[in-house]
Amino acid sequence: MLLLRIDMLFDGTTIFVTGGAGFIGSAVVRHLLDHTGAHVVNIDKLTYAANLSSIPQAAGHPRYAFAKVDIGNAAELRALFERHRPHAVMNLAAESHVDRSIDGPAAFIETNIVGTFTLLQEALRYWRGLDGGRRATFRLLHVSTDEVFGTLGADGLFTEKSPYAPNSPYAASKAASDHLVRAWLKTYELPTIITNCCNNYGPYQFPEKLIPHMIIKGLAEEPLPVYGDGQNIRDWLYVEDHARALALVLANGRVGETYNVGGRSERTNVDVVRTICDLLDRMAPARAGSRHRLIGFVPDRPGHDRRYAIDAAKIETELGWRAQETFETGLEKTVRWFLDNRAWWQAILDRGYEARRIGVIPASGQAK
Ligand code: NAD
Ligand code: DAU
Repeated sequence: MLLLRIDMLFDGTTIFVTGGAGFIGSAVVRHLLDHTGAHVVNIDKLTYAANLSSIPQAAGHPRYAFAKVDIGNAAELRALFERHRPHAVMNLAAESHVDRSIDGPAAFIETNIVGTFTLLQEALRYWRGLDGGRRATFRLLHVSTDEVFGTLGADGLFTEKSPYAPNSPYAASKAASDHLVRAWLKTYELPTIITNCCNNYGPYQFPEKLIPHMIIKGLAEEPLPVYGDGQNIRDWLYVEDHARALALVLANGRVGETYNVGGRSERTNVDVVRTICDLLDRMAPARAGSRHRLIGFVPDRPGHDRRYAIDAAKIETELGWRAQETFETGLEKTVRWFLDNRAWWQAILDRGYEARRIGVIPASGQAK
């Protein structure tokens, strides 16, 4: 019923998805193509994290277009707005990996802050030129993270009212982008909405992130490096549940609001890794016994947030969203997907991704 309503709302519209070749962006594009009547323009710079093969249904699809464009390139963005005249923009283009932000924060400042600024300026310029009806319904949905709120102690949840207290260069750059989006709403009345989501996992995730990293290393029977004492807690959401939430917020969310999106699935990192070992042991038994023997504790991530957990009550009660996957069902699907789609991630390894430890500050303390 809900899907039908969204389908009808999106029918015949054009939606810009920035970062649509990334992990969550590609899930959003797949969702829009498969479950709505929207025309999708995927705008992506194609960084190391991008993979156009993550959208298998895009080939020859009549409602899909791709533009290799940097969201920091105002002239190219302007041309896209003029050519496609979108009804909405979903901004998922970002540098997204905390460990990379420790080693090289500059790219995070460029894309997450300057890129978002440039996108806001071009969206504003385009929106101001729309006629009354189109102006009223235009939306810019900015996709952000719970990391902007910093870290929780043993108790409590992040709500939409939690203060911002980012601790990594990545989180700080996302917090800055959220503030820009808010300012463009308050000052220029650009109709924006922000979502702040917890940790995603699922098919097509680049193997630098915890879950795919452990699946691929576990399959190869290589060491499974858990940072610190392994007791850091993340709240996990299956990526397709996030994509559904974003479509719902775009369709029915209120302008100027922020919505927290979370899976109500808190787990310690070491528990996540142990569960992956159990699933791999069952689905692809190891040569030398259980993969639990591969788990090891390595030096902690600098500035490592202890716990994230989202209060998802607002999106649940106001928009009727619920995560469909539990952590157990979603993780089993994910491990199965990585087993069945080796060619997708093997190609990433073959083109030089080494899956080695990064984000440890060198003795000199110098970031690039
Ligand atoms: P990702 O790293 O997998 O993908 C990012 C995509 O953005 C890539 O395709 C990349 O090529 C593209 N991109 C990067 N810089 C660009 C630029 N300047 N112009 C155009 N495209 C550019 O990231 P993800 O995990 O899919 O995250 C997407 C968004 O969701 C990010 O904003 C991230 O902060 C947010 N988020 C992620 C998670 C998570 O668990 N992964 C959770 C909450 C929020
Ligand atoms: O909370 C949302 C955020 O989740 C998003 O905004 C980010 O884009 C996304 O990358 C993710 O950030 P995290 O830092 O939480 O994710 P990551 O997968 O890098 O790490 C998850 C936890 O696992 C974290 O506590 C660090 C730990 N870890 C990670 C790796 C890669 C390990 O212990 N070992 C590892 O090898």
